[in-house]
Amino acid sequence: MRKNIVAGNWKMNKNLQEGVELAKELNEALKGKTINCDVVIGTPFIHLAAVANNVDSNLVGVAAQNCANKASGAYTGEVSAEMVASTGAKYVILGHSERRAYYHETAEILKEKVGLALANGLTPIFCIGEVLEERESEKHFDVVKSQIVDSLFELSAEDFGKIVLAYEPVWAIGTGKTASSDQAQEMHAFIRKTLVEKYGNEVADNTSILYGGSANADNAIELFSNPDVDGGLIGGASLSVDKFMPVIEAF
Ligand code: 13P
Repeated sequence: MRKNIVAGNWKMNKNLQEGVELAKELNEALKGKTINCDVVIGTPFIHLAAVANNVDSNLVGVAAQNCANKASGAYTGEVSAEMVASTGAKYVILGHSERRAYYHETAEILKEKVGLALANGLTPIFCIGEVLEERESEKHFDVVKSQIVDSLFELSAEDFGKIVLAYEPVWAIGTGKTASSDQAQEMHAFIRKTLVEKYGNEVADNTSILYGGSANADNAIELFSNPDVDGGLIGGASLSVDKFMPVIEAF
């Protein structure tokens, strides 16, 4: 059966010392507790190795927030999936709406990144989600379906089975405006149905679909109680242990 996962996305926050401190604190807070989900933290690239060295990998998985769409070579400033994996990170967040919007990541580029992540043993946490205008014009189901089809549906069933999806309605990210529990469930059920049609029941049932967008201690229990919401991708509320732990403990 699919895993429940609570993943933090620190985005471009915390210097190296602050990040290592936060990771250590989280690791301490999780020790000896019964936790009913996998816990992941998505850190900036330069934190990855130090954070991975300072947490128990049984308690905290480490994620990059991006990787290059090329394997290696003359791509100044880029960080490859192989480099990410060599730090001890096990996950990579791909297709975040901020990367699609500000860094022009297309479906094609994301397809390349997913392929390289999988080839290097990383679990992609693949983000999808509509902007407000698309929801208001009732295009949100089509938009999300296209994002999945265009970047992921050339994968074999075996490879698709290694993907974690994160539905993040763009209008809910960092705005304090969470999707209602019903809106989240409705979209997650639609996504799962899309996976059934392509890969069948077993793959669809085993795929973790996380919700992201202003998720926090106040709404996590209700969001996670939905049958198709298998956890969260948490931005702001992952930046302190006090705010992140209650989200983890919502399971
Ligand atoms: P917030 O939780 O800050 O809204 O961010 C969500 C997000 O984008 C996680 O990837």
